[in-house]
Amino acid sequence: MKKFSRMFIALTLACVAAFFFSTASAKEKKQPAQEIKAKAIDATTQKTSNHPEIPQGVSCNDCHEMKLDANTTATKVWLEGDAPGKKAGEGIMPKEKVWDEFTKMIGNKKNTRTFVIATSMNNVPLSTTAEFALDPDKKVLYGLHEKGTEKLAHMQSNPRVSLNWHKEFEGFADFRCCQIRGTVELMDSSNPEFEQALIKCLPYEKGARIAETDNDTVKETKAKNMREMLKKANMLISKITIEQITMANVDFTKEGFRRYQRWVSK
Ligand code: HEC
Repeated sequence: MKKFSRMFIALTLACVAAFFFSTASAKEKKQPAQEIKAKAIDATTQKTSNHPEIPQGVSCNDCHEMKLDANTTATKVWLEGDAPGKKAGEGIMPKEKVWDEFTKMIGNKKNTRTFVIATSMNNVPLSTTAEFALDPDKKVLYGLHEKGTEKLAHMQSNPRVSLNWHKEFEGFADFRCCQIRGTVELMDSSNPEFEQALIKCLPYEKGARIAETDNDTVKETKAKNMREMLKKANMLISKITIEQITMANVDFTKEGFRRYQRWVSK
């Protein structure tokens, strides 16, 4: 009798195990939406009622490659379509000229710009004001930041960033701004590019208390001390590789160009 009941328990366990395995494999067969390869879609595409269920907190571009601005109708019209005063295809600047205009707009080491940079983590955006300086040869922007801030945590979790600089709007006769898309990399002082970025692009000397009357040796010593201090301090340099720039400047029209121009890295 004892032997029989033991056999009964063993059989029951086997059945239960078999049941779990079969439901587990049935679950595997029904793929969740994330695992099916989603096709690329345009920014303006609407999903249908047949669409696979979308989990909370997930957005279209987590699964689909989104063909963004190139197809955002309003932007496209201003950049290349039939727009006020311009027929389709007219007034588009050559790529090199767009880049030149960009370098003029955002200044240099002696005259850097304060940008607003947008970052995001877990689909939650954050915009922050920060100084950035251009390296026109590498086509990157550098920023000097204190470690441990929220925007840096965002950059670490998602290197895609967007920046904007604009002149305070005073009217349609003179407005200018630029919107940038890029990918960021964070460098600490062990990276040789950290010091090169300081020397070539970032206006770190502002903190070095260099007087006009100092001679060149004193100036260089003060600058070097400042660089050493920054390297030892809790600082990081962000390096943003520019992928796309969209600019607006009414002055472009003086040379017969559209007021909106775009530069794309590739
Ligand atoms: C969790 C992943 C996921 C998310 C998020 C998601 N999709 Fe999809 N989508 C899919 C998959 C998988 C398919 C089926 C394969 C395909 O057609 O690309 C699909 C199909 C589609 C289709 C074609 C079939 C249909 O239902 O019309 C469109 C259009 C579409 N998605 C648009 C969107 C839009 C717009 C959003 C944001 C609101 C979105 N999707 C969010 C995974 C996703």
